[in-house]
Amino acid sequence: MTIHESIGATLHAEHLQTLSAMDALDGRTAGEAKRRPLDALRPEDKQLVEALVAVIDSDVCRHFRFEEEELFPKLEKHGMGDVTRMLIEEHATIKGFIAPLKRLCQTALERPLGKSEWVEFRNLAMDLVNSITFHIQKEEMGIIRGMEMLLDEASCRELVCRYSAY
Ligand SMILES: [Fe+2]
Ligand SMILES: [Fe+2]
Repeated sequence: MTIHESIGATLHAEHLQTLSAMDALDGRTAGEAKRRPLDALRPEDKQLVEALVAVIDSDVCRHFRFEEEELFPKLEKHGMGDVTRMLIEEHATIKGFIAPLKRLCQTALERPLGKSEWVEFRNLAMDLVNSITFHIQKEEMGIIRGMEMLLDEASCRELVCRYSAY
C-alpha cells in the first residue's frame, strides 16, 4: 500500500463504519421500529445506542478533528480552500445534531425515552443520517479518491504519523 493509499484507506474505513452505524440508526428510527421508543432494557437497543455513541466519538468527532486540524490545512495549500470551507461548515451542522442526540443516548441508557424524547431522537437521527451520508459522499469523491493528485508523499507521511496521536 502506498503512503497515499494508507491515509486514504484509514479515512475511508472510518467513513464506512460511520455509514454502517447510520444504517443501523435509520433502521431503528424509521418504518415499523419507530413505533417503539428506545429502551435499554432490550439488549439490542442497548447495543445500538452504545455502538452509536462509540462511532460518533471515534469515527465522527475524532475524525472531524483530524480533518480540520491536519488534513484540510494541507489541502488548502493546494488551492482547495473553497472545498474545505464547505466541508467544515457541514461538520458544524452535523455536530449541531450530534450534541443533543448524544444527550438523548445517555438518557436512553438510564431509562426508557418518553414519547416526546423519542420524537426528538428520531428527528435528530434523520437529520444526522442525511447530513452525514451526503458529507461522506462528497469527501469520498472530492478527496479520498484524488489523494494522490492532491497531496505529495511527504504530506501524506506526516498525516499518517499525526493520525496515530488522535
Ligand atoms: Fe469530514
Ligand atoms: Fe471524513
